[in-house]
Amino acid sequence: MCGIVGYIGYREAYPIVIKGLKRLEYRGYDSAGVMLYDGADIKLCKTKGKVSDLEEKASKEMTTNGTIGIGHTRWATHGVPNDVNSHPHVSNSGDLVIIHNGIIENYAPLKQELIARGYVFQSDTDTEVLVNLIEEIQKKEKLKLGKAVQTALNYVVGAYAIAVFDKKCPDELVAARLGSPLAIGVGEGEFFIASDASPFIEYTSNAVYLEDGEMANIRLHKPMKVRKIKDDSEVDPYIQELQMNLEQIEKGGYDHFMLKEIYEQPSVIKDTYRGRLHANEGIIQMAGVEDNLEKFLNADRIIIVACGTSWHAGLVAEYIFEEFARIPVEVEYASEFRYRNPIINSKDVVIAISQSGETADTMAAIKLAKEHGAFVFGVCNVVGSSISRESHAGAYTHAGPEIGVASTKAFTTQITVLTMIALRLAKAKGTLSNSDFHMYLQELEIIPEKVREALETNERAKEIAATFKDAPNCLYLGRGYNFPVALEGALKLKEISYIHAEGYPAAEMKHGPIALIDDQMPVVVIAPKQGHYDKIVSNIQEIKSRSGRIIAVVTKGDTQVRELADYVIEIPETSDALSPLITTIPLQLLSYHIAVMRGCNVDQPRNLAKSVTVE
Ligand code: F6R
Repeated sequence: MCGIVGYIGYREAYPIVIKGLKRLEYRGYDSAGVMLYDGADIKLCKTKGKVSDLEEKASKEMTTNGTIGIGHTRWATHGVPNDVNSHPHVSNSGDLVIIHNGIIENYAPLKQELIARGYVFQSDTDTEVLVNLIEEIQKKEKLKLGKAVQTALNYVVGAYAIAVFDKKCPDELVAARLGSPLAIGVGEGEFFIASDASPFIEYTSNAVYLEDGEMANIRLHKPMKVRKIKDDSEVDPYIQELQMNLEQIEKGGYDHFMLKEIYEQPSVIKDTYRGRLHANEGIIQMAGVEDNLEKFLNADRIIIVACGTSWHAGLVAEYIFEEFARIPVEVEYASEFRYRNPIINSKDVVIAISQSGETADTMAAIKLAKEHGAFVFGVCNVVGSSISRESHAGAYTHAGPEIGVASTKAFTTQITVLTMIALRLAKAKGTLSNSDFHMYLQELEIIPEKVREALETNERAKEIAATFKDAPNCLYLGRGYNFPVALEGALKLKEISYIHAEGYPAAEMKHGPIALIDDQMPVVVIAPKQGHYDKIVSNIQEIKSRSGRIIAVVTKGDTQVRELADYVIEIPETSDALSPLITTIPLQLLSYHIAVMRGCNVDQPRNLAKSVTVE
């Protein structure tokens, strides 16, 4: 989704804005733009394409001096990606400039009104309507920028994170948010505005995260003023110290963020359970769960809401919760749940899983659950994100910034958190034997080592990728705990390499997908020794007899599947319930190498956005 960067201070704004936009590239975008103010003139450059295209265009078209600047990466919603629709947008007078992430839903009637008053529009965007609405209010009611923005925002329906500049008061930027994230970096004599803190992390570690419905007047050499957009009440801005460091948001020698993040999994899984899992003492302690243990124990059922990869982690959790804690679980696509009048009651626990903590559908689903009196528990990665704040309680995954658009470490750390919750509940309910409980704790503690070992399949995954990189389709099969891993493997392949892929429960094959099998169809089968091994061996035989090409993920030392499969990838042994944490690793590597070999943009796949803040 769109990314926003702004700077006001004593440094040259252009390099800060451009570098900031590059840091936000992971969010997904199709065009970019920048505005600079040099003390006399507004300078604007916008283009369809990448930030590097913008830099090239700017170097030819404008001087890049100025200590105030705003920049934007656009993920098209209203109007095709082209130069004109790119942000920033300028008001008719040429004085006001805006960048916007979100959607103004009632832009059409507002546009008609403005046209009737003589306004002319260059673009097809809702954002150009907003900047002209602010201008009209400013003129008509003779308001300063902050008040005019506030009044305009009270007219609009939709979601936004905006930054607005006014040439008439050039020592000020106004920022506001509703439904889209916005962070303000507070330095010495300078301020930064951004969709997340990554654009300003090397300049300041102090940040204010605006809450929904808040706006900030940012003036040079003056304290920042934050107020509620609706009732104008003043808010004391809470300045927090950022945990993030520069190293975390750079590639650190890897060719892609995705690969770096795949390799980070052993250490981030450890970070996820650090201080929570005490295997030797037989203790799992998570504040959000302890404080609400009764809610979990009295729950009639757990409803998990999520999207994409997070939904797959939810499916793994369904198996784990039901097996360990014997609590019925339903896993819902947040986008379906929110619109289908679901039956929710006050004895339901709703777990929302979201890496970004900003996914619009997941957010709406938890709001709905809260309205029905359910207890909402958030499993998010981004600290302070909207979903984590909207939840009654929660547990962070502590995976660190995930910048590759394709989720990798988010998935395994989500499963780690959910497994710990299930184990804690199992202990409280006595639904696992003492010996099994201790066995799982010990197993979980050594999972990072096994993930490290599983990463040694990289070369093998690369060889297999070279063979299958031109396949037009691919099937992924798994059973039990590894059925969601099959779905996740297929999603990874399709989203970064654009190969059509589908995941199925292996036994479902006979009910349709088997018709697809021929000697051109690669079938990735997840077949670890534990679980339904014999059953999956039969499924592999079914594929073999129809000449399918089998790539099997097997436990080290396996002989039976090796005889049937064309290629095997060996992974270390672990218990069935924890196996998704291991089996998913070679599938991530396989997708990665196939995408690289096909020349795809691995970290920023076409059409995708990292945090989906529109429904
Ligand atoms: C796939 C992927 C997406 C996200 C989905 C939910 O690799 O990244 O499917 O999992 O958009 O995002 P979050 O977890 O941020 O709510």
